[in-house]
Amino acid sequence: MLAALSTAPPAAAENAAAAAPAASGAKGRNVKFQDGTIVPALGQGSWHLAQGRHPAADEEQALRTGISLGMTLLDTAEIYGGGRAEEMIGRVIAGQRDRVVVVSKVAPDHATADGIARACAASLARLGTDHLDVYLLHWRTRQTDLGVVVAAFEALREAGKIRAWGVSNFKTSDMEDLFGVPGGDRCATNQVLYNVGNRWIESDLLPWCEQRGMPIMAYSPLGNDSLVHDPALARVGAAHDCTAAAVALAWAIRGGNVMAIPESGSAAHVKENAVALQLTLTPAELAALDSAHPVRPSDVLRSILDRGKSWLHDFRSGE
Ligand SMILES: NC(=O)c1ccc[n+]([C@@H]2O[C@H](COP(=O)([O-])OP(=O)(O)OC[C@H]3O[C@@H](n4cnc5c(N)ncnc54)[C@H](OP(=O)(O)O)[C@@H]3O)[C@@H](O)[C@H]2O)c1
Repeated sequence: MLAALSTAPPAAAENAAAAAPAASGAKGRNVKFQDGTIVPALGQGSWHLAQGRHPAADEEQALRTGISLGMTLLDTAEIYGGGRAEEMIGRVIAGQRDRVVVVSKVAPDHATADGIARACAASLARLGTDHLDVYLLHWRTRQTDLGVVVAAFEALREAGKIRAWGVSNFKTSDMEDLFGVPGGDRCATNQVLYNVGNRWIESDLLPWCEQRGMPIMAYSPLGNDSLVHDPALARVGAAHDCTAAAVALAWAIRGGNVMAIPESGSAAHVKENAVALQLTLTPAELAALDSAHPVRPSDVLRSILDRGKSWLHDFRSGE
């Protein structure tokens, strides 16, 4: 089980969450992994942190604020800021490791048996921890041997260096390839682009994962800030006395099978975002957002083409 996580039945966890106000640092919505592990539906990203966009002290304060408000899922990667984002998260989680869920990623050019073990050791050193809660393959390249990756992740899991593993930027055809290798179905999550302005996963990947009880981790849930002044989100926010950003995040996590990892180096923004853990959108509000931001036909076409690629591969290999 993942550190810092409850394995209580979902109903119990949700009841406990509902009873507690956000301002006290208590949790809101949760998402359940296949193994029963429960994580908060809202976390914090770190792609642009520790690179001078804000003063480092402000960014660290933002991360600590998020943790205190229940956004305890912290996403990072070995490549973010050349390791500086992991180091910043290491400073933030020092003394509170058991309160947080740490997710990091190995870059595909390290995705060999030895390379993954070395990359994991380096990430652990930068983060100042002896284990990752979830370790992801950042993306797949033509050279990536998924069998090798799964075996390396499983070896790390057995050695206690990681509690769970997953992938990122995998389309449905990639997930099918993954599930085709031994142990591939132990994948805990797939971290992909998902926000109200980009709903490409809805036509295929999201239902595929839901059918297998696998939650999705949504990156860029604010559309890299393009949604924070969106008029349709702002109108819904006005009805709840919250920001468009909070509505965008509540929208992303509305179904119970998606975790969102917004990034912010501003404590004030993090406080706005944390409101999403307690925010339930009404059917009328969801319908208004659907009509302002429908699934694009190009996204449906993209899914059909991806599925076609998968079927062609199966046909050629006689499966
Ligand atoms: N696996 C992958 O390939 C992949 C790819 C992209 C991202 N990610 C992960 O996902 C995380 C989030 O994605 P992202 O950074 O692309 O985009 P995002 O979270 O959608 O947007 C981040 C931007 O929104 C701003 N922001 C946040 N809260 C705000 C608020 N309440 N009001 C106004 N502005 C606000 C931030 O600025 P301030 O700092 O000023 O608040 C920042 O400029 C990344 O940090 C990373 O961990 C993963």
